Amino acid sequence: MFARPLLAAACVAAFALSAPAAAQQPIVIKFSHVVAEHTPKGQGALKFKELAEKKLPGKVQVQVFPSSQLFGDAKELEALLLGDVQLIAPSLSKFDRYTKKIQLFDLPFLFDNIEAVDRFQSGPKGQELLQSMKNRGLLGLAYWHNGMKQLSTNRDRLERPEDVKGLKFRIQASDVLEAQFRALGANPQKMAFAEVYQALQTGVVDGQENTWSNIYSQKFHEVQKTIAETNHGVIDYMVVTNAKWWDGLPADVKKGLSEAMAEATAYANKMAEDINQGDRKRIADAGKARIQKLTKDDVAAWRKAMEPVWKKFEGDIGRDLIDAALQSNK
Ligand code: LMR
Repeated sequence: MFARPLLAAACVAAFALSAPAAAQQPIVIKFSHVVAEHTPKGQGALKFKELAEKKLPGKVQVQVFPSSQLFGDAKELEALLLGDVQLIAPSLSKFDRYTKKIQLFDLPFLFDNIEAVDRFQSGPKGQELLQSMKNRGLLGLAYWHNGMKQLSTNRDRLERPEDVKGLKFRIQASDVLEAQFRALGANPQKMAFAEVYQALQTGVVDGQENTWSNIYSQKFHEVQKTIAETNHGVIDYMVVTNAKWWDGLPADVKKGLSEAMAEATAYANKMAEDINQGDRKRIADAGKARIQKLTKDDVAAWRKAMEPVWKKFEGDIGRDLIDAALQSNK
């Protein structure tokens, strides 16, 4: 006759014991990305982990998964929306399914250099874009730099636009980049980052465009003959989270994570250019692919050949954004 109340009492006691323990379980934050650790994004992610865990001891645990170990390009945005990861930092080229406006960053020869990109991102229009995918469940927390893109092929000659006519290029999943290579008379092929090395090695594609740090860390220079220093576009990132998950975090955790993100952003953005220039030198020293410097005249020819892309996407992107980006070159 006492069994039931006793059982109930035991349950209450067990709950009382386990409740504080459960409250102390840290919130696990999975941060998935596709590049190597020794890249601007790889370093930024590790810095964020260090800072977040220091600011919120016992409250959060950040697990970083580099090199497409957890999710590659094709899946990481969906995984974020499904709640399988909490942070990702895709390149700005990979959001065009979610907003056409971010296509801005892919317009060829829009920004003169990474400082101009930084000015735009910190300005009102850049900050607005961080919020532009909230209706799709994505919240931008920060921009992280990688750097300017260079063009590489398995050919000896790579100075002028006519040198890439008819060649096959791997591109990120971006319609602007597709149009850019079509404007050059080349054949673009959308492909996940993790597959590029093999595609270059086996000749599935002849070339690709990327930053020095991505070229070096993926060993693309070992399977390409020439890298032209075109600086024709930018690869930068938006660190995004699941808006619903973020909104549901306790206020102190949100504050700590926001601070950690701001500090990790400053750290990663400061070192991005150094990593890229260091990797440029390592590629030159390795003596595998040749680095082709371009004259002003060559650069003007590339710019002219890629120009039609602007007209094609201006309507989707909006003239106001393009003008603000151009202003940031001054
Ligand atoms: C690429 O796919 O080439 C890049 O976006 C990879 C990256 O994240 O830097």
